[in-house]
Amino acid sequence: MRLKDKVAIITGGAKGIGKETALLFAREGAKVVICDFDEEAGHNTLEELKAIGAAALFFKVDVTDRASVQAMVEATKKEFGRIDILINNAGITSDALLTKMTEEQWDKVIAVNLKGVFNCTQAVAPIMLEQGSGVILNASSVVGVYGNIGQTNYAATKAGVIGMTKSWAKELGRKGIRVNAVAPGFILTDMTAKVPQKILDMMKEKTPLGRLGLPQDVAAAYLFLASDEASYINGQVLGVDGGLMI
Ligand code: NAI
Repeated sequence: MRLKDKVAIITGGAKGIGKETALLFAREGAKVVICDFDEEAGHNTLEELKAIGAAALFFKVDVTDRASVQAMVEATKKEFGRIDILINNAGITSDALLTKMTEEQWDKVIAVNLKGVFNCTQAVAPIMLEQGSGVILNASSVVGVYGNIGQTNYAATKAGVIGMTKSWAKELGRKGIRVNAVAPGFILTDMTAKVPQKILDMMKEKTPLGRLGLPQDVAAAYLFLASDEASYINGQVLGVDGGLMI
């Protein structure tokens, strides 16, 4: 029970990496709040959390909507009394080559992956500051460090997340709040289901461990970073990519 009685909010927790993290955290004793704009998937994940005996809540929230983020954070505090962990996991892609990318594609990816992270952290930080403790974990990507063809918007957000992570690690560290990011490689979820098989095969070939990642691989990294075992780790970006980028 590495997270016994900790209260964790996981954005985009209905599916993929977020869902796997919610289930793992629940098995480790956490009270889990999932926020996601996919209502049906959110309710299904909530049922799975309850089936393993977890105290859990689901809020239908779009992380780009500051008012509903604030309401979700207040409801969590009211129900569980505190917030120990925030995982800014919600994210989207909308790929196109630079010369073909529309302003709408740019704006929507920035809104979710960058401003959404800012919105959620700004809503949770005052509660963590009052407690004098907390952990904030952000979803970056190998693409935020190394770039990728067709992902101008996505790469900008994931590099931006690293900038926010390091800024908050400095700003909040003295107040007992640790902030870190993970940078996953290619993880098998709905998001990568859109990537052509040819590219996935190429990535697998390039990965020293010889396989693509699973949501569980990233969930395990979040668990470590959220736990007290990582109590002196702050402002870091942990690659979870099978060695793809070495
Ligand atoms: P996914 O598409 O399987 O799940 C994302 C979840 O976020 C979904 O449940 C979706 O409904 C939710 N979501 C999307 N926009 C939202 C919004 N505006 N408000 C609330 N919820 C929203 O994606 P996956 O693969 O699990 O990715 C999770 C995070 O990890 C993302 O930030 C992604 O960029 C990042 N990541 C994923 C990689 C991969 O290969 N799958 C690699 C590197 C990073």
